[in-house]
Amino acid sequence: MPLVPPYIASLRAYEPGRSAEEIERAFGITHAIKLASNENPLGPSPRALEAMAQCAARLNLYPNGGLDLRTVLAREFDLKVENVIAGSGSEGIMSNIIRAFLCDEDEVLTTEAAFIGFQVLAKSRGVKYRTVPYKAWHYDLSALAAEINDHTKIIYLANPNNPTGTIFTRHEFDDFYRHVPERVLIILDEAYFEYAKDNPRYPDSMHYRYDNVITLRTFSKIYGLAGVRIGYGFAHEELIANLLKVKLPFEPSTLAQAAGIAALSDKEFLHRSLELNARGLRLLIASFQEMGLQVVPSEANFVMVELADSIQAARVVDDLLTLGVIVRPLKSFGLPQCIRISTGTDGDNQRCLAAMQKALLAAKV
Ligand SMILES: Cc1ncc(COP(=O)(O)O)c(C=O)c1O
Repeated sequence: MPLVPPYIASLRAYEPGRSAEEIERAFGITHAIKLASNENPLGPSPRALEAMAQCAARLNLYPNGGLDLRTVLAREFDLKVENVIAGSGSEGIMSNIIRAFLCDEDEVLTTEAAFIGFQVLAKSRGVKYRTVPYKAWHYDLSALAAEINDHTKIIYLANPNNPTGTIFTRHEFDDFYRHVPERVLIILDEAYFEYAKDNPRYPDSMHYRYDNVITLRTFSKIYGLAGVRIGYGFAHEELIANLLKVKLPFEPSTLAQAAGIAALSDKEFLHRSLELNARGLRLLIASFQEMGLQVVPSEANFVMVELADSIQAARVVDDLLTLGVIVRPLKSFGLPQCIRISTGTDGDNQRCLAAMQKALLAAKV
C-alpha cells in the first residue's frame, strides 16, 4: 500500500516566486525588484495596516470565521450574509470548493495553462482534469461548452485571466452559459476584477447572478494584502452553506479580516494603485512591442510575453535575474515559451525595460 496516492506522488509542489532578498544574496547585488507575482508595488493599503495594528491586542481570542467581513461585504453588495464567504485568500476558498463538491468520478474543465494555483488544487484531488486550448490567448468558451460531459462538475474561468491578462465579455459568457447544465458549478475567479472593472467590455459578475456560479475575489492584488491571506466569494446560499461545512472554522485570521474590512474603504489607495497600474501597463506593452516582442494586451496588472521558444524564455528570465529583475517564467503553467511581468512602480518599470533590452541583446532575440 503506497503512503500517498499516485495522483499526489506525481504532483510537483507549488514553487513560489523568488524574493528580492534571495536574488540579492544569490547574485551579490542590491535593489532587486520583484515583478513576478502580480503584487501591489505600493505596499499594503495604509488603512489595512492601521486596522491590523489596532486589533493586535485582541489576538489572544479566536476569530469569528469571517463573519464581520461577510457582514460588511453583504451590505456593500446588497446581498445576505448567507451569500458571502471569506477565507484565507481566494485560493483558500477554492480549496474548500474542491473539497466540498468533487467526487472521485467527477471531472474538472478549464483552459490550458490555467492559473497555477487552481491547477495544483484540482489535480491534488485526483479527479480527471481536462482542458481546451486558448484561442488567440483568450478562453475559447465555445470549445469549453462543447467539452462538457456527464462527468463535468466544475468549470474554472478566470476573468481577467492569469497568465494571459485577457478578458471575456458578458455576451460571450451568456452564450457559453446556455450550454452549462445546472449541476455544473462555475468558478468565476475575479482576482483582478478591480483592474478591469472600468473597461466597458468587462462584465462584473455581480450584475448577473446564476445559482451555479461562485464569484471569487481577493485582497491580495489591488489592496496589497497578499501576505495577509484574505479573499472572499459570492454565491447562492446553499453553495455557501456547504462551503462553510468544510472551511477551517477559524479562517480567516483576526488580522486578515480586520485588514480586509479596512482596505475596502481605502478608496484613495485603490485609486492611486489603479493609476499607477494603468500607466505601467501602457508603458510596458508599448515598449515591449517596440522591442519586437509578442505581447498579449492585458486588462490586469501584468503582461504576458511570448518568446521564440522555451530556451530563449528561460535565458531571458535568467539574464533578468542577474540584472536584479525577477519575472515569472510560465513553464509550470504549461507555457514554457512565455514569461509574465507584473507592473511595478514607475522606477521599477523603467528598470525592467532597461534590463529587458540587455537581456534580449544577450539572447539575440
Ligand atoms: C487568477 C488568480 N486567482 C487567485 C489568485 C490567488 O489569490 P489569493 O492570494 O487570494 O489566494 C491569484 C494570484 O496570483 C490569481 O492570479
